[in-house]
Amino acid sequence: MGLYLSNISHSFDTHEVLKNVSADIPSGQILCLLGPSGCGKTTLLRIAAGLEKLQQGTVRISDEIVAEAHIHVPAEKRGVGLMFQDFALFPHLNVRDNVGFGLTGLSTKAANQRIDQLLERVNMLDQGDAFPHILSGGQQQRIALARALAPKPAVVLLDEPFSGLDQSMRIQIREETLGILKSSGVATLMVTHNPEEALFMADRMMVMGPGGEILQQGTPNEIYTEPADAYVAKFFGQANSVTGVVSGGKIETPLGSIDVPDCQDGCNVEAVIRPAALKLKTAGEFANDEGVPVDIISARSIERNTFVRFRIKDAGQDVPDFHCRHRGIFPENPESEVRALVRRKHIFIYHTDENT
Ligand SMILES: Nc1ncnc2c1ncn2[C@@H]1O[C@H](COP(=O)(O)OP(=O)(O)OP(=O)(O)O)[C@@H](O)[C@H]1O
Ligand SMILES: [Mg+2]
Repeated sequence: MGLYLSNISHSFDTHEVLKNVSADIPSGQILCLLGPSGCGKTTLLRIAAGLEKLQQGTVRISDEIVAEAHIHVPAEKRGVGLMFQDFALFPHLNVRDNVGFGLTGLSTKAANQRIDQLLERVNMLDQGDAFPHILSGGQQQRIALARALAPKPAVVLLDEPFSGLDQSMRIQIREETLGILKSSGVATLMVTHNPEEALFMADRMMVMGPGGEILQQGTPNEIYTEPADAYVAKFFGQANSVTGVVSGGKIETPLGSIDVPDCQDGCNVEAVIRPAALKLKTAGEFANDEGVPVDIISARSIERNTFVRFRIKDAGQDVPDFHCRHRGIFPENPESEVRALVRRKHIFIYHTDENT
């Protein structure tokens, strides 16, 4: 059981949007698909659903090939629950009729029981007669989820399901959604722009590049701690990036030297530096020759962390600003000299020479 995509490529006219994409999603698992705008995420979902005709590759649901050369099982026969970004509830149908929309072939009694069951699960049983326009975004989202799950699909496809919700609602609804998907045992393919959301929801993640190719697939932990390339490494938060030529197992950067032990001298490398790798110290905290002097550009304190943007003192125009996360309020003393130190942990090194 599950959804299996093999070697899918797709073009609109001469514009190739998906390049040889494969993914296995067994029942009960959630795969989150991330990638920049326009890379082909929605197109992949539409191909899996049967809304877009497959050009190359195979789509298998459970034991059945539903799309391949000369095979195209129509969308309504694939057993796929769909939920797109705008929820797209039917405005002229009330909540119960929206949820029951895909329940064909059931007696009225059985359909009503199923609708009750779903509404209870999404905590909306008392709103059955309401029409979509009087519901909040979060309530509409829950109804859309109930509608997608009502026909007991083997596969659920979600395209940025939480993007229309404000932050607090988003966190609550995604926790509820996660619980519902997991208890339903469906295979879920979910598109999101939000890496933090993917880390929270996914059993596995798949990161697509701007050219519609898969850059990395793995567990959230693998992708976060061992990003396959600089693009994936930079996907999570405000990562900093510096480049350099290796000499004596190091590169010299505006932040000081960074060890690059596994690279030969002369290699060009990019170091992606997560904010957690940078530490700021004020006068009295640093030793004389420690770190590089910096100017603070902005500091925003949120709960117990301060997100600081800084610039190396007297740096040239081509040296970018850096971002770091400081534990606690910063700076405690705004007059103090500040220095930045790099810690090797949370730094990822990638070769930028061709053919390496
Ligand atoms: N029916 C179509 N005809 C022609 N081009 C299309 C069609 N649908 C999508 N495209 C193009 O294919 C590319 C991928 O579109 P898609 O909607 O899959 O991207 P996406 O990754 O979902 O982006 P976003 O994150 O902005 O939703 C885009 O360049 C888009 O303009
Ligand atoms: Mg899209």
